[in-house]
Amino acid sequence: MTTNTLFNQNIIFHGADYNPEQWLDYPDILEKDIQMMKECNCTVMSVGIFSWSVLEKQEGDFDFSFLENVINKLYENGIKVFLATPSGARPQWLAQKYPEVLRVDRNRVRQLFGKRHNHCPSSTIYRQKVAIINEQLAKRFAHHPGVLAWHISNEYGGECHCPLCQEKFREFLKDKYKSIDNLNKAYWSTFWSHSYNDFEQIQSPSDIGESDVHALNLDWKRFTTKNVIDFFEHEKSVVKKFNPNLKVTTNFMEFFYDYDYFEFAKSLDFISWDSYPKWHFYKDEKYTASYTAMNHDLMRSYKMQPFVLMESTPSSTNWRELSVLKKPKMHRLSSIQALAHGADSIQYFQWRKSRGSSEKLHGAVVDHVGHIQTRVGQDVKNLGLDLLKYGPIAGSYTNSKVALVFDTQNRWAIDDCQGPRNMGFDYLKMTHSIYQALWSLGINVDVIDQSCILDKYKIVFAPVNYMLRDNWANKVESFVKQGGFYVSSYFSGYVDENDLCYLGGFPGPLKDVLGIWEEEIDSLPDDEYNLVQFSSKDFNYTKEYKARELCSLIHTTTAKSLAYFKCDFYKNYCAVSVNEYGKGRAYHISSYMEDDFYYDFISTLLDELKIHNILGIKSNDALHIQTRENEQSIFVFVQNFNNYPKDIMLNDKYLSLDTNNTIEGGITLEPYEVLVLKKDK
Ligand code: GAL
Repeated sequence: MTTNTLFNQNIIFHGADYNPEQWLDYPDILEKDIQMMKECNCTVMSVGIFSWSVLEKQEGDFDFSFLENVINKLYENGIKVFLATPSGARPQWLAQKYPEVLRVDRNRVRQLFGKRHNHCPSSTIYRQKVAIINEQLAKRFAHHPGVLAWHISNEYGGECHCPLCQEKFREFLKDKYKSIDNLNKAYWSTFWSHSYNDFEQIQSPSDIGESDVHALNLDWKRFTTKNVIDFFEHEKSVVKKFNPNLKVTTNFMEFFYDYDYFEFAKSLDFISWDSYPKWHFYKDEKYTASYTAMNHDLMRSYKMQPFVLMESTPSSTNWRELSVLKKPKMHRLSSIQALAHGADSIQYFQWRKSRGSSEKLHGAVVDHVGHIQTRVGQDVKNLGLDLLKYGPIAGSYTNSKVALVFDTQNRWAIDDCQGPRNMGFDYLKMTHSIYQALWSLGINVDVIDQSCILDKYKIVFAPVNYMLRDNWANKVESFVKQGGFYVSSYFSGYVDENDLCYLGGFPGPLKDVLGIWEEEIDSLPDDEYNLVQFSSKDFNYTKEYKARELCSLIHTTTAKSLAYFKCDFYKNYCAVSVNEYGKGRAYHISSYMEDDFYYDFISTLLDELKIHNILGIKSNDALHIQTRENEQSIFVFVQNFNNYPKDIMLNDKYLSLDTNNTIEGGITLEPYEVLVLKKDK
């Protein structure tokens, strides 16, 4: 791999969402803001995200003077912009004149004007109006030296069930299945006599209509993904006409449910995302820190390249049950966490707090007091100074030998499935438990889905892989044959991509590689658990581990048992198995295990594969070590998310990018302290 900077830059960008259109009555504010931005070493602002009603007050009545002034002034002061297309929120006049742009919900009710992110993605008139405003923007700014890239729309989300969307859905299905017979078979539609006679009868899922045909529900989600990509491509094609070299992105969201982002990512030139972790919500930060790290890894893995942290709050959000402030040092730590996992830009929502409406109390760099002589303002300023030292990190890549599968289409299918556990069954939570162990061990991880290639990994974890798609079983077989380690779990290999159960026993086409057959799966009430203990001397642990939620009752065929259940009628059944297959191994874990189990088990597997972090440090708390590298150097990020000091021993000499001094030997990291180190290759 080679260095891959997003914008040929040698800096880590720093900036925020900036909404000067809200401050047109306060003419001196722009100058003041720019002054403060420079003090904070801000190098990029996202502008124009919700500016439509100012740019086009009435249909066809354009005025770009304010935006032009803002972009020019920022540029003159060394600050570039991510220029947004304004489709995330439309003006009143547009909805009033063309009500068809308004979305129709699952129960077929057309929405009134209001809120944002709620247009119909199929609406011809909306597409026309968006094309016009995008064209006007691109004409003026696509070659402006101050424009770094396009920020297309904002946080696309949701779905529309209007007649036009329904029609497009039917076209999508015709194209996919060719005949209604094929569709009926795939949908198992004789169940409850739901067979279709022709495509015209098909309706999108609805709570007052069809919602039980799982394959229909899945296809609808796939269609909505395709339709939003189509809308994005429409916006993109307009701006690219004026400058094909100007890159485009849209801001993604946390483990987003509505669309398959692996598909969506293909249309983006680079990934950007909005991260709002729940810092200080729980007794310690281990859960939040590892959950956020997993999200960063997912964002990096969509394109296996650095990404932009487009939004994060410098203090608190205001839309959660609590607006918890970032404690001292958390701002630097959480921002550098993003950098460690692949961010090449650290940005906030928002630069300046608005005076009115729903986000007036949301965290911002500049509070209503109007200056940055505040705790938050100074945190941002100090981070800006730190980022100046991290320029060499820009464009560096992440070398991961470990992959964890988190597959959105599998997630949809699991959530739709009735049984074996309809309460509290959470694929993300289960996947994160594995990630958390890897995170504590300080291991770089790629978070991938079933469409990805496995060649470069030594070990792949794919827990709760209920739905197999994209030839997954074949990919796994050849990966393991060639020497890879594969770790599967309960509730895997049940259905194909149409959500039809595999015949001949679970885990379907994974049976051979795993060397097991699952006969039944038991679902436990929340307050109950089974116990699991290792029997194999390869796993030198005498502990009993709690097994919760689901226990899969398997028979080993070619696999051997490494651990067993200790209670209930399946006492002595295999709880962890391994199958030697070709040059590699395939493991199966039969239940949702407590954290200690994952830590011990994974740590043993990684020891065997000789996968350790560069410092050779293992910790089972909230210390994390992450690396990025380029041709010359390895950058090491030692992050102490513990609220207590942590002693570590450096195994070599490293250059601290913060102090420019060489450090070695024993070091104490203060609570929430982070070291940014460099070692030449
Ligand atoms: C994001 C959104 C921003 C702002 C922010 C508040 O989801 O893109 O416009 O609303 O949340 O946290």
